[in-house]
Amino acid sequence: RVLEQTASDTELGQFEHYMLKEIFEQPTSIENAFRGRLDDDEATARFGGLNLDPQELRRIDRIVLTACGTSWHAGLVGEYIIEEFARIPVEVEYASELRYRNPPMSERTMVFAITQSGETADTLAAMRECKRKGHPTLAICNVVGSSIAREADGGIYLHAGPEVGVASTKAFTSQVTVLTLLALFMGRIRHLSYPAGQRMIANLRKMPDKIRQTLECHNRVKEIARKYYTAENFLYLGRLHNFPVALEGALKLKEISYIHAEGYPAAEMKHGPIALVDEQTPSVFVVPRCQIYPKVISNMEEVRARRGPIIAIACEGDDKVAELADDVIYVPDVDEYLQPMVTSVPLQLLAYEIALLRGCNVDRPRNLAKSVTVE
Ligand code: AGP
Repeated sequence: RVLEQTASDTELGQFEHYMLKEIFEQPTSIENAFRGRLDDDEATARFGGLNLDPQELRRIDRIVLTACGTSWHAGLVGEYIIEEFARIPVEVEYASELRYRNPPMSERTMVFAITQSGETADTLAAMRECKRKGHPTLAICNVVGSSIAREADGGIYLHAGPEVGVASTKAFTSQVTVLTLLALFMGRIRHLSYPAGQRMIANLRKMPDKIRQTLECHNRVKEIARKYYTAENFLYLGRLHNFPVALEGALKLKEISYIHAEGYPAAEMKHGPIALVDEQTPSVFVVPRCQIYPKVISNMEEVRARRGPIIAIACEGDDKVAELADDVIYVPDVDEYLQPMVTSVPLQLLAYEIALLRGCNVDRPRNLAKSVTVE
């Protein structure tokens, strides 16, 4: 079912909070992000609203993704995936910075503004600045008819349905889905082979079920939250595709539980943050199987040697991680570029459960608005 943005979708139903409802909607919202956009015959993705012909798209030699907050984290995931599959250099810019900078950008640079609300003031201003300079400027947006959706030259809607909780959850995984489709599409008009395109399509189709399986970790996450909710500092660590997930996990915790949390690429620990590790500071390692899995394991060993508590997000059946970590949350094993969709889910749940235990207003955290329409 395609989620329409109707009143019924904004009702809580069986859920206590919008944030939890939106976390549990992710199997559907991810499916809605790729529904009707997978072309099996051509082994590619199709978008109705890019408004650029294939010739123009083939000329693009650089992509700039601009956004704020969680949408910026989705952009970082997109950078890894687009560079890997489409072999186009990607830069991810904070919209609040890009709007006042004047980076050299050739006429072959395509700009995407990534935004759930389509109303974020900095993202709108950065987009206008790029448009003024003549770049094809598109939106990856959830809210239909929003300012950014209207002003962009074209774009891709998320079709995630309304996101009411201030903490963005389903919009993140939908943005990552759409960026994966974009990588597939841009890859297929360049170097990506037919079988490689087919494999991506088959893998994407499995994601709603993988997210359903991932959500089964909820009870385990509740237990872990009870153990750690009084901590005053958390570290979140991941590498490659899971580095942005670490940033996103830390942002979720900060924003709704008011606990100080920092996200880092795990190997950066030794350049400073490791000084923060002590018995009271949990480190959340996002460590599914990946090309540099042994390196992340050795980063975990460094934290363990300093008696820092470790919570790990790992692939099912990973006994090595279980030996090193105090607590493990298992997620299904998926290809590396798809891991952020599954590994971000337990971190959303962890932030939610910790915030509840601390008596925080999960859906409407202090000092924050759902869309930041001022500078
Ligand atoms: C995420 O949990 C935040 N509430 C926030 O960082 C948000 O992602 C940011 O303000 C950008 O919003 P947008 O996607 O609507 O542009």
